Amino acid sequence: MCNSWLLIIAITLECLWNSQLSETSKSCPAECICLSQTQVLCNTGGLAQIPLRQLPSTVENLALTKNNFPVIKPDSFAGLRALKKLSLDGNNITRIKQFAFRGLPRLKELSIQYTPLQTVAQFAFAGLQNLSTILLSHNQIATIEGNAFAGTSNVKLILLSNNPLIRIDTSAFSSLTNVGHLILPSGIRTIEPDAFLGMDTVGLLKLAYMDLKELSPYTFRGLTNVLLLTLQESDLGIICADAFTGLSQVDKLQILNNKIDLIEELNFTYTADIKLLKFHGNHVLETPDPNSIIIDGVSQLELVNNHFPCGCHIHTLLDGPLVEGAHNLSEFLLKNYCISPLDVNGRAMAELDIDSIGRCQDQLTKGNLGSSAASMALSVNVTLLIAAATIELRILRTLSQQLLLLWQYRARGSRGRRRRWHLVGR
Ligand SMILES: *[C@@H]1O[C@H](CO)[C@@H](O)[C@H](O)[C@H]1NC(C)=O
Ligand SMILES: *[C@@H]1O[C@H](CO)[C@@H](O)[C@H](O)[C@H]1NC(C)=O
Ligand SMILES: *[C@@H]1O[C@H](CO)[C@@H](O)[C@H](O)[C@H]1NC(C)=O
Ligand SMILES: *[C@@H]1O[C@H](CO)[C@@H](O)[C@H](O)[C@H]1NC(C)=O
Ligand SMILES: *[C@@H]1O[C@H](CO)[C@@H](O)[C@H](O)[C@H]1NC(C)=O
Repeated sequence: MCNSWLLIIAITLECLWNSQLSETSKSCPAECICLSQTQVLCNTGGLAQIPLRQLPSTVENLALTKNNFPVIKPDSFAGLRALKKLSLDGNNITRIKQFAFRGLPRLKELSIQYTPLQTVAQFAFAGLQNLSTILLSHNQIATIEGNAFAGTSNVKLILLSNNPLIRIDTSAFSSLTNVGHLILPSGIRTIEPDAFLGMDTVGLLKLAYMDLKELSPYTFRGLTNVLLLTLQESDLGIICADAFTGLSQVDKLQILNNKIDLIEELNFTYTADIKLLKFHGNHVLETPDPNSIIIDGVSQLELVNNHFPCGCHIHTLLDGPLVEGAHNLSEFLLKNYCISPLDVNGRAMAELDIDSIGRCQDQLTKGNLGSSAASMALSVNVTLLIAAATIELRILRTLSQQLLLLWQYRARGSRGRRRRWHLVGR
């Protein structure tokens, strides 16, 4: 008798226990809507903490938008091993600590947009082996620390548009392999050397609307196996020696519609292995020194719609390796334009009577030693030149027109904050 009572109590207790268990496994945080055991929405829930304990461990799709998580701590989502898609948009996130997203082997899409986040810290996104999309647009990201994405391979898209990012630090994107698209915001002013070190097998790396003082030495070192690298619609400033050194195996390198103050060196040896270099629509303010242009490692070169100086240095350009590399001189002349002197600005080179343009004084005196426009037109010691009686008046006039044009360029481009006279005053 006593025994059967005990049995009944035991059964009842077990029943209660079980129902409570299934209750917890089916629980849903009060602030959330659990559409199913795999899909949970906690939007505008006023959450101050990630309700890790109450979430079903089977959740695959979790939206936590517009709550209040100022800091995403390490291992914030530990245990949600089924999670595939996570949105933290519209939160008050100011910091993401190292390894914040550790333990999410299946996470494919991570969205952190419209937050006040300013820094992508070291290892913030480390170890997300299966992540394919990181959406980081519309934040306040100004800094991406080195190794931010370490160990995160197979990313198809990293979207960083609409952030006030002005500098790309060394190794910011290091160790990212198999990246589909890396789209950076406009307004970048500095790319440190080795910014893309160790990036391998990249689909598209697009750098547009930049405002650089220079493309520094070794900017692209260690970047390999790129389908398309494009530098466009930017003020590239000076392309320094070794800017592209260490970049290798690029299917297509595009340099489109940029302003380029000076090409100190463009050195693509065979190891660069660039199938196609598209150099279109650029305004090149100085004639590059032919001795500093090496394009042996470029299989095909397209030089179209560019503007170059057409003063006495046009001979340097036409005899130089760039035009030679483009193979068809008459086509080059038809499809490229003059930036200076002023009276031919904007005219196709084919319209000029090139033979009537005198060679530069420095070329006449030094022969074809290849001293560049830098030593003549721009680094010119004007007082010295004016004093030198041997200078023809015509050259002086051309020179002053080029300088005028450059002044106009700088006046137009001057945004007050940058020293714009480095070329003229050097
Ligand atoms: C966001 O965080 C900042 C700093 O922690 C705080 O001052 C601010 O009130 C927060 N805003 C909201 C909407 O929670
Ligand atoms: C990673 O993604 C692939 C393709 O979607 C999938 O087959 C694989 O199982 C995922 N890895 C893990 C650990 O879930
Ligand atoms: C071009 O690069 C190669 C290999 O990096 C180097 O040996 C050579 O000196 C460079 N040439 C110029 C003109 O800079
Ligand atoms: C060079 O370009 C011109 C104009 O596009 C074309 O008519 C000519 O056939 C080309 N010559 C060679 C050798 O490709
Ligand atoms: C320019 O020429 C003047 C006069 O010869 C000389 O004193 C000055 O050092 C020169 N400046 C430079 C930068 O060469």
